[in-house]
Amino acid sequence: MLNFEFKNPTKILFGKDQIAALAKEVPAQSKVLLLYGGGSIKKNGVYDQVKKALQQHQLLEFGGIEPNPEYKTLMKAVQLIKQEGIDFLLAVGGGSVIDGTKFISAAAVYPGDNSWDILARGIRTEKGMPFGSVLTLPATGSEMNSGAVINRSEIQEKRTMGGPGLFPVFSILDPQVVQSLPARQIQNGITDAFTHVLEQYLTYPIGALLQDRFAESILQTLVEVGPKVQKDPSDYTAAANFMWCCTMALNGLIQKGVPTDWATHMIAHELTALYGIDHARTLAIIAPNLYRYTFEDKKEKLAQYGERVWNITQGTLEEKAEAAIQKTVDFFHTLEIKTRLSDYTDAYEQTADIVYQRFEERGWKGLGERKKIGPDAARRIVELSY
Ligand code: NZQ
Ligand code: ZN
Repeated sequence: MLNFEFKNPTKILFGKDQIAALAKEVPAQSKVLLLYGGGSIKKNGVYDQVKKALQQHQLLEFGGIEPNPEYKTLMKAVQLIKQEGIDFLLAVGGGSVIDGTKFISAAAVYPGDNSWDILARGIRTEKGMPFGSVLTLPATGSEMNSGAVINRSEIQEKRTMGGPGLFPVFSILDPQVVQSLPARQIQNGITDAFTHVLEQYLTYPIGALLQDRFAESILQTLVEVGPKVQKDPSDYTAAANFMWCCTMALNGLIQKGVPTDWATHMIAHELTALYGIDHARTLAIIAPNLYRYTFEDKKEKLAQYGERVWNITQGTLEEKAEAAIQKTVDFFHTLEIKTRLSDYTDAYEQTADIVYQRFEERGWKGLGERKKIGPDAARRIVELSY
């Protein structure tokens, strides 16, 4: 097992009707900015619950944060914060609203002239403006981690950021929010969380037995509850397990002491930047082909994953590993997630070259657990994904 440090300061309030707890979690004297997306919270009752809980607080609002949150929109919120003397942020939404709030938290205190540098130059935020979240879409884990992904469509860039100052102070997880989710978002959530676990697990054996079993248990639970949540989003037990799986998949715990990959995410973000494809769907396009391309390096863990998650007992190690990749693709298909780039865009043929070029420009020469995924590998993986 590798050496590690682990600190996750986010307080989780999980369960039915926990939104009411906002009244005590949001500092009483603060001037609060409530941040939300395109308005789903006004239709499903979450907005009303938040407003009721915060009726004694000084509260301003900023809506309209897009899925794949846009830099330009977020900068308007930063301006509002400075004008109004806001000192606490409350994100109410899915990964996009929470990620957008993290960028705003960083930009609100950033001393430089150009906030885009936080993303372009990868500036870590040691201390941002404090914020909490009310999660409305289980998927990204953003509610309990310190990372964010921000889009800037005028230059077709989607960039990651983060730092220890960007953990939410608290996050409220009420599984009842799952009831109003469209099927597409439930499918995305299961796929995103599943791939988060694979990014931290499908590497090479390092003798981290407990981390492996944490990872496998999240995968097995998602396989078990995924169809149930899809069939009936009001099944509270299924929704609660789905939600907690998504949080546990990316709150830092399962990646401690083990090598991690993340190349699937880095390549996949380019597909969202170029074509606007939902984040989870870009992962389903790239992940299986990344595993095929890196087969020799990953085959031991692939076979273990096949045995323990998919009950593949027959065949050689290589055969089990190959069958595990196929099981993953089949699982995505059961979620009605298509796994080829050509299923999403007709313009796919130049994509591999564009991704190659972007990796070159950014100097991304060594992604993945073995630091082998550079421009050439990324190009080949995207080609395999057509
Ligand atoms: O905008 P509103 O009206 O709220 O509607 C949203 C949006 O259209 C809707 N929605 C959310 N909760 C709902 C609901 N509709 C009905 N009922 C509810 N309870 O769902 C749509 C998608 O929301 P979004 O927040 O974009 O989805 P998701 O949570 O999947 O977040 C995706 C973003 O997170 C980033 C992705 O790249 C993408 O930008 N990620 C963030 C990560 C992180 N911070 O750790 C890790 C991930 O790998 C990922 O990259
Ligand atoms: Zn993801």
